[in-house]
Amino acid sequence: MNEQHVHLTGIGSYLPERVLSNAELETMVDTSDSWIQERTGIRERHIVAADQMTSDMAVEAARIALNDAGIGIDDIDALIVSTTTPDMVFPATATVVQAKLGGKDFPAWDIQAVCSGFVYGLAMADGMMRAGMFRRVLLIGAEAMSRIVNWQDRSTCVLFGDGAGAVVLEAKEKEGGVLGSVLHADGAYRDLLKAHHPHPGASPDRVVDFSLDAAGVAAVEMKGNEVFRVAVTKLGQVVGEILEHCQVDKGAVDWLVPHQANIRIIQATAKKLGMSMERVSTTVREHGNTSSASIPLALDELYRTGKLAAGQLILLEAFAGGFAWGANLLRWSK
Ligand code: UT7
Repeated sequence: MNEQHVHLTGIGSYLPERVLSNAELETMVDTSDSWIQERTGIRERHIVAADQMTSDMAVEAARIALNDAGIGIDDIDALIVSTTTPDMVFPATATVVQAKLGGKDFPAWDIQAVCSGFVYGLAMADGMMRAGMFRRVLLIGAEAMSRIVNWQDRSTCVLFGDGAGAVVLEAKEKEGGVLGSVLHADGAYRDLLKAHHPHPGASPDRVVDFSLDAAGVAAVEMKGNEVFRVAVTKLGQVVGEILEHCQVDKGAVDWLVPHQANIRIIQATAKKLGMSMERVSTTVREHGNTSSASIPLALDELYRTGKLAAGQLILLEAFAGGFAWGANLLRWSK
């Protein structure tokens, strides 16, 4: 087999209809629109409907991505869903998505690297595809973060949103596509950003009411400013590492597509790369932090608005609970 390169040939995303504004949050917790915008850059976020699951959002994004690639679900060899908010403990949400899309007889599994899940998933798919295991992979980041947020904790509930993004990956002999990936994790930091298992079987003292109106449930817990400090440092390092790994000069990068947690973290990474904010996809204002959905959502935003051109270099990076962080470099080839 000749050397294979993994190209993004389809992309799609989905945001639930309901928009939760900072103004509405002001009526729920002791916060203000100005605090949220100044500290995070977030103005609003989308919230999944009561009768929607993570798999439903994943399916919507996947349909658009498949259509964009001009293929059907039967053309797919493997399906990976990155999610922190699976429909159930098991089966994997990926199998639910497979069934809802009418797919059969190909492997489907979930991965969990929280907000870095898409970067991890892309690295994993790229490796498996280069090794010849699969020719076409559907990779989805889908999250219903609103279901694991404590809506009485102002320090976290203002940050998150729901959504899904999907890409179709195809192995080809043609050069380009995913140029490389760098992944890291350090579990010594695991207590700074976490959510206890919502399922009573795993944690009998914590039974979580998943509704938006639920009071006092234990879910996402974060020591925000400590996470912030480490995130800025580690992201600054990992963007340098991925460029070195791929032998690319920072001046050659056309677009930065970062995980969307906080505009100030994004600005710090852009500064490290010497990139102006015009070359950075920022959706945090409208989406909030959608965990592993945020990068495909932000990439799709660039694509849909016609900003991407074949041959451009795109740097993806993310930082997550764990901590787990990483980066991928792509040469856009659509
Ligand atoms: O996606 C995974 C990675 N996640 C991240 O990267 C998130 C990283 N952290 C952050 O983005 C920021 O740390 C936050 C946005 C979470 C917080 O911003 P900060 O500038 O680090 O604020 P802080 O936590 O140091 O809090 C400053 C003050 C505190 O009040 P005092 O103690 O100074 O009186 C907080 O109680 O702001 C208060 N505060 C709020 N005030 C109004 C915290 N949350 C709110 C709020 N509204 N929602």
